Amino acid sequence: MVDGATPVVTDNQICRGAGRPDCGCRCFEQECMVEMIIETDSLTKLYGKKVGCEDICLAVGEGQIFGFLGPNGAGKSTLVKMLVGLLFPTSGTAQILGRPLGDLGARRRIGFLPENFCYQDWLTGEELLSFHACLYRMSKMEKKRRIPAVLEQVGLAGKEKQKVGSYSKGMRQRVGLACALLPDPDLVFLDEPTSALDPLGRREVRKIMVELRERGKTVFLNSHLLSEVEMICDRVAIINKGRIVAGGSLCELLANSIEVEMQVEAQSPEMLADLSSISRSVTVEGRIVRVSLRGKEDIPALAEAVVRNGGKLFSLEARQKSLEDLFVDIIREEGHLI
Ligand SMILES: Nc1ncnc2c1ncn2[C@@H]1O[C@H](COP(=O)(O)OP(=O)(O)OP(=O)(O)O)[C@@H](O)[C@H]1O
Ligand SMILES: [Mg+2]
Repeated sequence: MVDGATPVVTDNQICRGAGRPDCGCRCFEQECMVEMIIETDSLTKLYGKKVGCEDICLAVGEGQIFGFLGPNGAGKSTLVKMLVGLLFPTSGTAQILGRPLGDLGARRRIGFLPENFCYQDWLTGEELLSFHACLYRMSKMEKKRRIPAVLEQVGLAGKEKQKVGSYSKGMRQRVGLACALLPDPDLVFLDEPTSALDPLGRREVRKIMVELRERGKTVFLNSHLLSEVEMICDRVAIINKGRIVAGGSLCELLANSIEVEMQVEAQSPEMLADLSSISRSVTVEGRIVRVSLRGKEDIPALAEAVVRNGGKLFSLEARQKSLEDLFVDIIREEGHLI
């Protein structure tokens, strides 16, 4: 049942209450006060005639973990590659850390873990990091300080003399994450950072992301692991077939997604028509009637519609949808064709 839990979030806290429809937070007002670290205006990438992503307007605030979700081929990596300067947009503009795309000063403050990382197998973990430190133009002192620190952070301390070619898949992902975190970036793009990790590794990486946020850093996370996104992200955007189809704080998105299951006898076409006027989706399976609602304030109207049409209501249970339910609903509504 959706309970009427008392809000636990006070005015000056940012809400992390994913899935709390009535958390009482003020995440939207707070959002207006946050400095924007990424702003895109109609950003579009075409590969010939094929759409990579189209007309992307996004704003990501400082100190957030932003989840960027979408089915395979939706355009997530294309957008990230444009934002980190690996692809030129076909049209549109963007600002990263207050600077236009491609600005070198901004790039030094960005970390990036690509999805298909392929590092130099013949280097040791330490040599690889040293190479990346050179690319970031880090001083010798900084290098000496940061390399052991990131190795420790990603759980590779003691493995730095081993060749990357001999690393397991999870260790490779960890060393990639170490490269992304090396310059202690203000903004870090992680394209599926936990896809190769075991459950413990995933938990460790989530902890790293949360620690980054606590230090005021911004994390842009591409992920298919929706339960993970639900656990840590402040805001999300969903992309499908190159276009953003939904977005907002997790509170906002999930608060508007309630599923109600009723046991009803003496159903009639009139009753189902009445329910359909309240809900965007009504399905019937024997005595069970399932209804999706945008808010729990519509629940009493459902019960009334059943009774008004002569139905017998034996039970009514409402539950908050998960991010995964919401994702599937949205992509289904939009139609998913790669
Ligand atoms: N180099 C390329 N040349 C041509 N088309 C490309 C190229 N890279 C991506 N695409 C196309 O652009 C679209 C978006 O791809 P992209 O890799 O951004 O998706 P994605 O959301 O990251 O998918 P996944 O979840 O599988 O990583 C797809 O239709 C893909 O085939
Ligand atoms: Mg991708």
